[in-house]
This record gives sequence, structure tokens and C-alpha cells, in this order.
Amino acid sequence: MNAPVTDSAVSAATSVPTASLAQRLDAEPWYRPQGDELAQFSAAAAAGLPVMLKGPTGCGKSRLVEHMAWRLGRPLVTVACNEDMTAADLVGRFLLDATGTRWQDGPLAQAARLGAVCYLDEVVEARADTTVVIHALTDHRRSLPMDKKGELLQAHPDFLLVISFNPGYQNLSKELKPSTRQRFVALDLDYPDAATEAAIVSGETGLDADRAARLVQIAQASRRLRGQGLREGMSTRLLVYAARLLLQGLPWASACRTALVQPVSDDATLQQALLDTVMALGEPASAS
Ligand SMILES: Nc1ncnc2c1ncn2[C@@H]1O[C@H](COP(=O)(O)OP(=O)(O)O)[C@@H](O)[C@H]1O
Ligand SMILES: [Mg+2]
Repeated sequence: MNAPVTDSAVSAATSVPTASLAQRLDAEPWYRPQGDELAQFSAAAAAGLPVMLKGPTGCGKSRLVEHMAWRLGRPLVTVACNEDMTAADLVGRFLLDATGTRWQDGPLAQAARLGAVCYLDEVVEARADTTVVIHALTDHRRSLPMDKKGELLQAHPDFLLVISFNPGYQNLSKELKPSTRQRFVALDLDYPDAATEAAIVSGETGLDADRAARLVQIAQASRRLRGQGLREGMSTRLLVYAARLLLQGLPWASACRTALVQPVSDDATLQQALLDTVMALGEPASAS
């Protein structure tokens, strides 16, 4: 679905390396809104404001960014952040090759030059000294200081920075500094209401509405166990997995055990409680 940006697509940006990290989305990534997040995201993009997406795992944050990049007609550069990531991983570095040294833009620099959407996924995983490199890009300066290269990169007008994180996982050592987070407008996402979530599962996989609604009920029961042994309830992503297994012909109990119960817990008692819910909500007679 996602083809790397071709040379012609980036012809306006002459200094972009040939091995571009940017993806241009040529088919619409389907996104079913849970509220007015599309209008909010569009307004932020039009106003040139950076966007922070908050929400539990598998609730649709990445899909929303993909959908918006497609809507805006901008390439998408995604970076999965981790604690070993350095500022150079984002900004760029000199590489040694047969002909000597050459500069290689990092994903953030590429996106800023190209006018892409740059998505820093799970940004709290990155160390604070790494996160600081986004500061000048997120205020009126819209620039990226590339000290090693001796360049102050002025961001393309279409450049849009988006970060995401899961507030449920946060502890004090992994929290965005106020000076970082207050540079973004924030969209709070969560698992949607039951009808919307069932529509997502059906729309994404083609599963019938009846079974989709039952899967959502199982997920909702698991989410009520959050904090009582479960760190996080079943995500929309797992419901999509369960639907795909059902459509492969796996029986209800087996599909739900593999896609829903076992991924969220290793605890035998908890697994049994969740399996009881799976069986209580059983497969509708018509679909078996
Ligand atoms: N609103 C939505 N519209 C369409 N699909 C969705 C939506 N929310 C979740 N999904 C489905 O759930 C999966 C996980 O969503 P994703 O965006 O990757 O979650 P996150 O980035 O929040 O962890 C997607 O691949 C998609 O199948
Ligand atoms: Mg994601």
C-alpha cells in the first residue's frame, strides 16, 4: 500500500537523499473517526501547529496519522522512538563511504526539508536530550539546528510534526517535560464506544456485525479489569486480529483465546476469567 517516495515525487527537494525514508500513501488508509478528531487535526495542520496524540495501545493513533497524511497529500515519515535513540538518529550524521564522508539526513531533517508529516511514535521512550532537538521546529522558528553539519534547516511550510504516546504506561522517569509537551496541541484518543468499535472491526475486516459486537463486549469486559491484574485491556488492534482469525475459519473459542486472551495476560486465573467471558458471549448460532 505504501510505496517509497519516488525521485519525481521529491524533485522539488534537491538535497533529499535517494534512500528516502518518506512514504507517500497512494491508497486511502481507512479511518473511522471516534469524535471530531479529523476536524481538530485538520485545523492544527492548517494552522501549522504540531500535534500530540494520546491514547492506549492499538486505539488508532497511527492509523489516524496515516489517514491525515493521505488527506493532506503529504508524505509520511514514521519514527518508532526508543531509549537508545540519539539526536543524530533524528537529525542526521556524516557517513563514511568509498568516496569519503557524506552527510545523511535523519528522518526528522528529511521530513522538514520535504514538507512531510513526521510521526514520532511512542515519543516518551526517547531520552529528554533527544527530544530537545524538536524544540526549535515546534515554535515560531520552525527550524532544525544541524550543528554537526553547520546548517540551520528551515522547515518546509507543509512540514507537520506529530508525536504519540500512551499515558497509561507513563511513570515519572518516562514523562514528557512540560517544556516539550506544551509545544503541541493534544488530541485525547481512547477505545471508542461499542458501536463505533464494532463498525471499525467490521469495516476493517469484513466480519459480520453480530460477531464484531460480541468481540467488542469481550474487550470492554477486559478493560474493566485494568489495574486488577491487567495492565491494559484488549485493544482495537487485537479485535481486528480476532476477526481475521475467525474469517480464516477458526472456531470462536480458539480465535478469541489466541488473539485476545493470551496476548493480554500470562496469568492462568485471569486468562480463565477472560475465557469465561469469551464463552458466555459465545458465537451466534447463525455464524457457526
Ligand atoms: N478509528 C479506526 N479506524 C480504522 N481502523 C482502526 C481504527 N482504530 C483502530 N483501528 C484498527 O486497529 C489497528 C491498530 O491501530 P493503530 O493505529 O496501529 O493503533 P495505535 O497506533 O494507537 O497503537 C489498525 O491497524 C486498524 O486495523
Ligand atoms: Mg501506533
